[in-house]
Amino acid sequence: MVSDSGGHDAAGTLEALASPALDPLFWPQARTAVPSAWHGHVPFAQWLVAAARPGLIVELGTHNAVSYSAFCETVLRERLPSRCYAVDSWAGDEHAGLYGEAIYTELRAFHDARYGAFSELLRMTFDEARAVIPDDAVDLLHIDGFHSYDAVQHDFQGWASKLSPRAVVLFHDTNVLEPGFGVARFWAEIRGRYPSFEFLHGHGLGVLAVGGEAPAAVLTLCGLSDPSATAILRDRFASIARTHVLEFAMREALRQQEQALQGEMGGLRQSLNASQQARAAAESRLLVQEHTIGTLEESLREAQEKARELEAGRVEDRLENRRQQAALEARIAALGDQAVEVDALRGHLAAARADAKAARGQAPPLPGDATMAATGTIALTAPGAWAWTSPLNGLRRRPSRH
Ligand SMILES: C[S@@+](CC[C@H](N)C(=O)[O-])C[C@H]1O[C@@H](n2cnc3c(N)ncnc32)[C@H](O)[C@@H]1O
Repeated sequence: MVSDSGGHDAAGTLEALASPALDPLFWPQARTAVPSAWHGHVPFAQWLVAAARPGLIVELGTHNAVSYSAFCETVLRERLPSRCYAVDSWAGDEHAGLYGEAIYTELRAFHDARYGAFSELLRMTFDEARAVIPDDAVDLLHIDGFHSYDAVQHDFQGWASKLSPRAVVLFHDTNVLEPGFGVARFWAEIRGRYPSFEFLHGHGLGVLAVGGEAPAAVLTLCGLSDPSATAILRDRFASIARTHVLEFAMREALRQQEQALQGEMGGLRQSLNASQQARAAAESRLLVQEHTIGTLEESLREAQEKARELEAGRVEDRLENRRQQAALEARIAALGDQAVEVDALRGHLAAARADAKAARGQAPPLPGDATMAATGTIALTAPGAWAWTSPLNGLRRRPSRH
């Protein structure tokens, strides 16, 4: 619209920008913190549900539920009488990657608290879920399972009978041309058979108005023939969604930073623990060494005490030896003296014998001479022998030493 002054109608722009009809484009998204290639399409999904007001929504491939929460959030905020079903094995696949139970556990808690009144998580295969959903009932089907050509074709054809006359089908990853991804090829085949529109950002999202009575707003979108209008709409939806993409990217960067810091802190804590343990070990080694030193010092004291006692004993022994040696020497000297006395006695005895012999020659025979004659010796014990031995008694007196 052009204003009277020839410029754009600024007031009209403001009015349009403030329109409650735009609300779904600007609602904050519910699942900002979980990874998904779907963050870039959240505003469109919210607009679509608000505009199409689908009675039954089914999603094939939910994982962290970024797309599914965009549908449910609108049902919640707009108080729509919709029923919603999310189908997934919550085990992952070759393209999404195989993931653990934590994804489902976290989602189940979030989902039940926020959307439990009108939505169900069907943990099963897409084929199994067909038995749960009635035919001709699904107004909005989102196909976002395994992305091979065969899988997408199988999902679309398998669920065709479930689609209502108002049905709109969304295909994610229409703009992924990597090997193994076949959505682009399938989309190229199908988009001409029904009214369609394709967003190119966020891996590509195809909108297919399959039902003959598809909502007017969807048909308007799919009916755009002006390439510049198509480009503008693509760009604006992508721009609005950029806040979600950036918010997730920022959160993810923060999460990774926090994880790295926690890893670093873990490492630091480990080295702190290790050095505290090493210190404790060194302290206990020190205690053991101090104890050993104490024991050694005690043993040393005892050994020195024993050495002192032994030394004292040896001194005493030496003194005793010396005493005994002195006694022996004295005894030897005494024996020497006695030997001298004995020699002297022998001399006296020999002299006495000689005297006696001489006297015998002059004197009459004495009693006992017969004995002496027979034995050749004097019987000193015979009566009267004292007269012969008395000179010997005088000799037994110790001679004085000179
Ligand atoms: C690309 S992810 C879905 C992404 C999700 N729409 C989002 O908003 O992020 C694909 C999911 O489909 C599931 N899936 C693939 N083939 C399936 C099948 N035949 N039956 C059940 N689940 C399937 C996988 O477990 C995976 O979680």
